[in-house]
Amino acid sequence: MTPLMATHTITLIPGDGIGPEVTNAVLRILAATGVSIEWERHDAGVTAFERTGHALPPPLIESIRRNKVALKGPVTTPIAEGFTSVNVGLRKALDLYANLRPVWNLPGVPSKFTGIDLVIVRENTEDLYAGLEHEVVPGVVESLKIITERASTRIAEFAFTHARRHGRKSVTAIHKANIMKLGDGLFLECVRTVARAFPDVRYDEKIVDAACMHLVMDPAKFDVLVMPNLYGDIVSDLCAGLVGGLGVVGAANLGTEIGVFEAVHGSAPDIAGKGLANPMALLLSSVMMLRHIDEGQAAERVMRALGRVLDQGLARTRDLGGTSSTLGFADAVCQAMPE
Ligand code: NAI
Repeated sequence: MTPLMATHTITLIPGDGIGPEVTNAVLRILAATGVSIEWERHDAGVTAFERTGHALPPPLIESIRRNKVALKGPVTTPIAEGFTSVNVGLRKALDLYANLRPVWNLPGVPSKFTGIDLVIVRENTEDLYAGLEHEVVPGVVESLKIITERASTRIAEFAFTHARRHGRKSVTAIHKANIMKLGDGLFLECVRTVARAFPDVRYDEKIVDAACMHLVMDPAKFDVLVMPNLYGDIVSDLCAGLVGGLGVVGAANLGTEIGVFEAVHGSAPDIAGKGLANPMALLLSSVMMLRHIDEGQAAERVMRALGRVLDQGLARTRDLGGTSSTLGFADAVCQAMPE
């Protein structure tokens, strides 16, 4: 008998450190949804480097290009001369220009604020992350901040399209154009141009330092935020902290055709191999992935199960004050899954 074909083929990068543990937990929950997925497993980071001499092996890149979707655990960038970040390398290789990070209060997760429901859209390919640095003379280093019209316009279009599609009311551009008049000035100019094509979405602007202050004072006021790479890196971790930390926020890196869904935390070497890691961040990323592959009903079932587990305190990992193991938490979510 010919085996049945899976409905979806997805590249899986278990990652380093706690990566394989949180990945196993998430696979267990995804299996309980009944969605038919064939996983193509590939290593990246230190594990891949030790095996193949490449931190980002070409077969991994080919697999993601073919499947167009990947679920990625955290990876450790090898500390050696000449290595740029594996994550930056992956985003560049696949032109994953938009980093999307929804941030909202989950039931039962302690946080200083309530009513937070915002989305960070971070430009992923340029700014100071272009990796252009050189020593001008001994003792003087120049790091180049690249801002282009093309990248700024497409991230603005992404942010406004996302806002319109998801019924969001406003987009705020975050910048420092008062100091970097040319670079951030160009970014702002591009966002303003795009904003004019979306009269149904309110548009405003905030200087990054003031935005940080408003975010930690009254985060519930914010909706969609769009910003260049470096501010996005910092502000998105700040916002994760507003709702309980890096362990409870998912993220996606998106290009025109490809989506790589990943947890925002790192490989946590201090707790790796102990069964203590919280798999929730990768689980939330996998929920974004399910919606992306048109498995919205499965995504809602996972969210209802997770909500029930958190709300009723059925299981909780140590970082959230509980005693559950990584897989114990996953089992609780599976048991809470509605029929
Ligand atoms: P980290 O996020 O790995 O750890 C920071 C702290 O948070 C640690 O105390 C850790 O135990 C805790 N933590 C992180 N995730 C957790 C989880 N799911 N459950 C419970 N506790 C958790 O950041 P760190 O230590 O700066 O980086 C470690 C490695 O991870 C580095 O090699 C770094 O390059 C890499 N990294 C990879 C990322 C990715 O692949 N997306 C993102 C950030 C860092």
